[in-house]
Amino acid sequence: MTLTITAKAASMREKGEDVVSLSAGEPDFDTPQPVKDAAIKAIREGQTKYTASGGIAALRRAIAEKLQSENGLVYDHTCVMVSNGAKQCLYNVISVVVDDGEEVLIPSPYWLSTPEMVKLAGGVPIPVPCAEAEGFALTAEAVRKAWTPKTRAIVINSPNNPTGAVYDDVELKAIGEFAIEKKMFVISDEIYEKLIYGGRKHTSILALVPGLREQAVVVNGFSKTWSMTGWRVGYIAGPKEVIGTCDRLQSHATSSTATPSQYAALAALVIDDAFTSKMNAEFNRRRLYCMDRIRAIPGLSAVDPHGAFYILIRIDSLFGRSAGGRKITGSLDFCDALLETGLVAAVPGVAFGSDRHFRISYATSLAALGKAFDRIETFVKSLA
Ligand SMILES: Cc1ncc(COP(=O)(O)O)c(C=O)c1O
Repeated sequence: MTLTITAKAASMREKGEDVVSLSAGEPDFDTPQPVKDAAIKAIREGQTKYTASGGIAALRRAIAEKLQSENGLVYDHTCVMVSNGAKQCLYNVISVVVDDGEEVLIPSPYWLSTPEMVKLAGGVPIPVPCAEAEGFALTAEAVRKAWTPKTRAIVINSPNNPTGAVYDDVELKAIGEFAIEKKMFVISDEIYEKLIYGGRKHTSILALVPGLREQAVVVNGFSKTWSMTGWRVGYIAGPKEVIGTCDRLQSHATSSTATPSQYAALAALVIDDAFTSKMNAEFNRRRLYCMDRIRAIPGLSAVDPHGAFYILIRIDSLFGRSAGGRKITGSLDFCDALLETGLVAAVPGVAFGSDRHFRISYATSLAALGKAFDRIETFVKSLA
C-alpha cells in the first residue's frame, strides 16, 4: 500500500513536479568523515574478503564493550553477532525463535516490517494496543491482556518507530517480569536509543530486568545513530545458543556484512558524541517546529514524540470530507490526495496498524518542513 504512494511520488518527481517528501526513514546527515575514512583505509589494506559470518572479532568485542559501558549489559563477544542492518538481526532472531502458529506480541502502531517477519517465520503477529492518550506508550497491563498460552515472544521498540514513544522504565520492568513468569522471549529493538529528546532517557529492558538474559536479545545498529543506513551494519546480543543459531542461519543466507562496512562500524564506536549530539539538537529543533505547525492546523493533532524522528498525525476528524470531489475515508485516501493535490509525500498510518493517522519524518531540512507544512495547511483547509 505504501509502495503505491512511494512509486506515485517518484513518478510525479520524474515528471518534474516539486514533491516534498516526508517519508524518509533515515537521517539526512552525511556519515561522519572518520567512519568513511576507516572504510577507505580497510579497502586500501585489502580488507575486502569474507569475514566470519557473525562479524570480525574486533567489532564484536567493541560492541560488547559498548553494551557494557552504555547500557549496563555484560556479554562476551561470542554472544554478539553482526548482521546486514538491524533488519536482518530481527529477521534472524524471529526466524530462530518463532515456530509455526506461535503468537508474537507487537506493540501497535508498529514498524511495518515486524509483523511481516513474524508471518515469514510462520508465526502470528498480535498487535498490542498502545493508547494515544498515554502517548502511545506500551503498558504492562496491555501486554498481560494480549498474552495467551500460544504467545512465544514480544518485540519491543523504544524509542519507537512510528510513534516516537519512549517507554516508561516502570512499565518496561513490569513487562520484563511478566515475560519471565510466562517464559515469553523478549526482542528489544533499540535502534533509536540515541535519538531521544526533551530530557528523556533510554534504558534497555534487559538492564531493568537482568533475569531476562537467557530469554531475550537486544538488537541495535549503526544506521540511525551514525547516519549509516546504506552501510548495512546491525547487531544482536543474547544467549549463546540463540546467537549461534542466528549465526548459522545467516551463514547460509547472506554470510557476513560487507567487510569495509564492519571496519567503518568499528570506527563509529570510538568517535566522540559530537556527531550524534549535533544531529539530535537539529532533530529536536525540527520536532518542536513540526509540533507547533501541527497544533496550528485545525483538524490535525499529534502527541509529542520523545524519540526517533517521526510524528504520527491524527486525521480521522477529517474523514468524510472531500478533496477535489473525492471523499477521504482513511489514511490511504488522505495521503494519496495530499500527494496529488498538495505535493507532499507521507506514509499512511494504515501501514503501521492505525488508519486514523499518517506518519511524517522530520529527517529533512527545516526549509523542506516549512514548505511541506504550508502545503499541508492549504490542503487541509481546502477539504470540503
Ligand atoms: C524500528 C526499526 N527497527 C529496525 C530498523 C532497521 O534498521 P537497519 O536495518 O537499517 O539497521 C528500522 C529502520 O527503519 C526501524 O525503524
